[in-house]
Amino acid sequence: DSSAGTPYWRPTVHFTPERNWMNDPNGMVHFQGEYHLFFQHNPHGDQWGNMSWGHAVSHDLVHWTELPVALSPDELGAIFSGSAVVDHDNTSGLFDAEPGIVAIYTNAGQTQQQSIAYSTDRGRTWTKYAGNPVIENPGVADFRDPKVFWHDETERWIMSLAEGDRISFYASPDLLNWERLSEFGSDQGAHGGVWECPDLFRLPVEGQPGRSKWVLIVSINPGGPAGGSGMQYFVGEFDGTRFRNDGSPGEVRWVDQGADFYAAVTWAGIPESDGRRLWLGWMSNWTYASEIPTSPWRGSMSVPRELSLIETGAGLRVAQRPVAELERVRRRPRRWSGAVSDGGAAPEFRGSELDMTTEFRLTGASATSFGLEVFTDGEQVTRIGYDVTARQVFVERTESGDTTVSDAFPARHAAEHVPDDGVVRLRILMDRCCVEVFGDRGQVVLTDLVFPAPKGNRVRPFADGGRVHLDSWEIYELNA
Ligand code: FRU
Repeated sequence: DSSAGTPYWRPTVHFTPERNWMNDPNGMVHFQGEYHLFFQHNPHGDQWGNMSWGHAVSHDLVHWTELPVALSPDELGAIFSGSAVVDHDNTSGLFDAEPGIVAIYTNAGQTQQQSIAYSTDRGRTWTKYAGNPVIENPGVADFRDPKVFWHDETERWIMSLAEGDRISFYASPDLLNWERLSEFGSDQGAHGGVWECPDLFRLPVEGQPGRSKWVLIVSINPGGPAGGSGMQYFVGEFDGTRFRNDGSPGEVRWVDQGADFYAAVTWAGIPESDGRRLWLGWMSNWTYASEIPTSPWRGSMSVPRELSLIETGAGLRVAQRPVAELERVRRRPRRWSGAVSDGGAAPEFRGSELDMTTEFRLTGASATSFGLEVFTDGEQVTRIGYDVTARQVFVERTESGDTTVSDAFPARHAAEHVPDDGVVRLRILMDRCCVEVFGDRGQVVLTDLVFPAPKGNRVRPFADGGRVHLDSWEIYELNA
């Protein structure tokens, strides 16, 4: 194919590799002023294969610079997903004067085993540890995606690892020798598929100084809420050995109820003075990832998001918001407010890279659903809004442009939400080939890929079957 590819689908504030295949984020670590984003990458093609760690760095979580491939397949196999930590105190003995970064990843060959590599030059070059693997395969087919953090209370490294459809925990004094501690999940949460890419961390409860809980993140494929890949979380306690879920075993909490947010894991090494818990996810779904119509790249990441725990009427929930850094690349806003009615006139703006906030007044609304039509030219349209009858925030991409990606693609994704003050608040990020919708305080999130033709570049409010008052609509163009 000699075509120039699909530059109009290249997002501006979302990371994409210059070319070729990308899946999970890996080795998320902040070190000496740089945010590192490694990623599952095929440097030689636009399909999954030759799994390596691609590499990008950013100073501000908005602009990314892609660097050469960091880790390539070796005699123990391909380089699957994993994490990275800063070994400040040289617990590993792998460093001399200066602290460096250690990557902990899955070597996928005959079997899946855990290996490590280290870097003394800010992640630019890596040396694989001579004693790899550091955890041999115990006879389990799916045995991967180590995520490591330093556990202050027991003064040792803790690893979460996906084993089939559960998560196991390991401990180590030095990142080299690991002891198996416990496992979690056989009777908890959703089990529609294999468990992957765990993450375990402590998260403060917003507005309750001194209170925090442990959160265990688990990607699952298939069996997600929108079909195919999805992410669930558990809120509970970790005592240094064992994770206990506060919820009831059958309860399932979804991180994101769109189709395209997977394998998200959090950054290590964020300075305490900052204190944020940040992550991003792969914006795709294994159901159709290999059919995504972009070129010469295939795969993009979500925007970095800040995580928090919020108290809601229904209990503690994980909330996500786009990082504040994104607000620095907003242009001056256009603003509108007014009544929107079925068949009535509505204002229209242009833009394909927008950060918008909306507040629809549910109290007094007669419409059965309302929201924004985005990426539209009158025919193709992506609808984002609130279904009053079903009490759901939704994204509908059935007529969003190129929906031939797979039979599963043209769909409507929804998340239950009952606002407690009669106002539906939606923050909507759209960036050429995707929408990320953050409802209310960020506890309702939907991420979806869309592939509109370039002329589908207008946005406007809609109301079905009645009226609604749009109290506030702010539209910021993003200019990265
Ligand atoms: C998740 C995953 C991981 C694995 C990697 C392989 O999307 O399946 O479990 O390490 O992708 O590329």
